[in-house]
Amino acid sequence: MNKQAKLWLGNHGKTWTDHNASAIDIKERAKTFKDLVGGLPVKSILEVGCNKGYNLTAFSTFGDYNLVGVDIVDYAIRNTDCSAELIVADAFKLPFKDNSFDLVLACGFFDAYPYKGIPELAKEVSRVTKKYILVIDYAIYNFNKRIDVLVSSEGVPLFWMREYEGIFQHCVSRGGRNPNLAGFNEPVITWWLFEKREDNI
Ligand SMILES: C[S@@+](CC[C@H](N)C(=O)[O-])C[C@H]1O[C@@H](n2cnc3c(N)ncnc32)[C@H](O)[C@@H]1O
Repeated sequence: MNKQAKLWLGNHGKTWTDHNASAIDIKERAKTFKDLVGGLPVKSILEVGCNKGYNLTAFSTFGDYNLVGVDIVDYAIRNTDCSAELIVADAFKLPFKDNSFDLVLACGFFDAYPYKGIPELAKEVSRVTKKYILVIDYAIYNFNKRIDVLVSSEGVPLFWMREYEGIFQHCVSRGGRNPNLAGFNEPVITWWLFEKREDNI
């Protein structure tokens, strides 16, 4: 198992999960998700790295979606009242068939991995989506530059910002990048929507 996944499986995962409960405003996030996804032909959504499933709960407030989440930290999935189907699984090996969901959401997820693991993760996410991938994450100004101030207590670097258009070149970009998203209190967080091309994974 890679270093970053191990980090989430240790104290960091539990501490972050406990903190997350007070950090997310579901109503505000729902505004962002409705804006970005509400008008798309989407019925099923998978979130990779869903933690306690708050984003999926936000989706449930405005649409009749089939909602599934996976997270590597079972503490997060066991301690929630989220009504979506939540599964303990590693996003490097998603337990779903190809084209299983209309949209895969990766929100604050890819930033936890250095570039080395990203093509593999992007490929896996692209495999299980039928159509869309929505990435919400730190915007990049220098490719793969690490935000040095955010380092875990175990001394392992935690967050990377990067340009996701370069990573999802096998998809069609459907826009993105306005900062100050409702429900995301850091203005450097932005979004990218990709559509899968039939011919290329
Ligand atoms: C920064 S949190 C974001 C949580 C949630 N998406 C949100 O927006 O609040 C990243 C989540 O990804 C999960 N995670 C990290 N590596 C993972 C992996 N390899 N497979 C599945 N989940 C993973 C962590 O346990 C954590 O819950």
